[in-house]
Amino acid sequence: MAENYPSKTVAFIGSECYPFVKTGGLGDVMYALPKALVKQNVEVRVIIPRYACIPEKWQNKMIYRGAFDMDLNPDGRRYYVGIMEYIEDGVIYDFIDNQEFFTAGKPYINLIDDIPRFCYFSKAALAALNYMDWAPDIIHCHDWQAALVPVYLRTLFADTPIARAKTMLTIHNLRFQGIYDAKTMKWWSGLPDYVFNMDALVENWVDANMLKGGLAYCDCITTVSNTYAQEIQTEFYGEHLDPHLRFHSGKLRGIVNGIDVDIWNPATDELLAANYDAETAVANKKLNKKALQESMGLQVDENKFVIGLVSRLTNQKGLDLVNSIIPQIMDEFTQLVVLGTGDSVYEDSFRYYENQYKGSLCAYIQYNEGVAHSIYAGADAFLVPSLFEPCGLTQLIAMHYGTAPIVRETGGLKDTVEPYNWAENTGNGFTFDRYESGLLLDAINRAKELYFEHREQFDEIVVRDMEKDVSWGNSADKYLELYNQMTQ
Ligand code: ADP
Ligand code: GLC
Repeated sequence: MAENYPSKTVAFIGSECYPFVKTGGLGDVMYALPKALVKQNVEVRVIIPRYACIPEKWQNKMIYRGAFDMDLNPDGRRYYVGIMEYIEDGVIYDFIDNQEFFTAGKPYINLIDDIPRFCYFSKAALAALNYMDWAPDIIHCHDWQAALVPVYLRTLFADTPIARAKTMLTIHNLRFQGIYDAKTMKWWSGLPDYVFNMDALVENWVDANMLKGGLAYCDCITTVSNTYAQEIQTEFYGEHLDPHLRFHSGKLRGIVNGIDVDIWNPATDELLAANYDAETAVANKKLNKKALQESMGLQVDENKFVIGLVSRLTNQKGLDLVNSIIPQIMDEFTQLVVLGTGDSVYEDSFRYYENQYKGSLCAYIQYNEGVAHSIYAGADAFLVPSLFEPCGLTQLIAMHYGTAPIVRETGGLKDTVEPYNWAENTGNGFTFDRYESGLLLDAINRAKELYFEHREQFDEIVVRDMEKDVSWGNSADKYLELYNQMTQ
């Protein structure tokens, strides 16, 4: 049937993708958005590096798709590009294989290693598409690691079949841009001299910025919420690229992320102590709370107000605010569970507080999917007080699990959490605006007060949160609309 024919072809290029490799929300989006697009009849290939740290389970499922050699830098060597393939849920995953670049135990090492790796990856991804004879309508690149793709496409690949594609570059986090001295970047990328100018890759006259170049050369820029699309054009959030983004604002759009509701589904989630839906949430979340308290070494008591936090531990996430008010949060009615890894200053301070508040505060300093699921289900409230937050997925997951978010009104947090309104009994969570610890404390206390004094209203928030549509459906529609506009 004609309507079943693929209407658009899209190549996703990025540095991580769940379930193969994930360090944060980028990995989730690289998995869930293609899956949602396939349901809309789009044909999608996802291209990521074949890191050695991808678990055996997945490595064993990949099949060899082909290999070729490619030049990269002026050293004259030919670099191996292998393509390993895996297909699931109608999405084709192509892994770029090169032992020289991708044998580290983690996806990101440090800039001095990562700059050559992602120059290689961006170029190899395009060369692989030509090799596979698959020139899609759209090449959708993600973050700085794939930002040179549009630059390569319009220069070294301009006379190849792949040049027919339009390019979209999505900013998941403007803080990371891939900046290195221009001479090194020029050497490793092998890009022509003329892209190293102040309108494209160069900044400060000496450094080259991969993201800046990609933003100049792509056909469309998106970021992961409407509010962040506005914020990044201001000095505070612009990470010094705000003038560049204002200049290119005509091609900049915000589309809020969703979550994969097949994976994140409290009714079927096998990692939970008890499954539930909106109707059974209030009763069954108690069972999950009990299981969480037991496994985290917290005092088992269903009457405690349990606050969860699952996060990369970096200053983006508002942890300075949290740390500065822990003594005020930790009264005899409240427990706090923190799951995360990152900067040692935060890992250490949470460990310190765990020791101070034994049985009431747990600092689980690890990356652990299973524990994340049990926190989303077992907590009453969920903290995301970020300094900045392009979108944020954790508040979406928390809401979907009936856990009331407490968030700062920034970026995607502002776009996805409607503040609770006492007078009208509406809203999904508790919010505060300025980045101040007193305001965070106030928001937490408002949540606590409702929980302890007006449980009925609190429980209605739980149900509203679970009924809110946080799936990818609407947002995938918006991407598709943009793809269509770009290829008209
Ligand atoms: P960011 O991409 O900035 O880290 P997001 O909120 O978009 O933030 O996405 C974070 C993702 O990573 C969520 O899926 C969250 O559950 C997951 N995550 C973060 N830290 C951990 C951890 N320590 N263990 C398990 N999952 C984690
Ligand atoms: C980034 C952002 C986060 C966003 C994620 C996925 O890591 O920090 O806010 O949800 O990308 O787009």
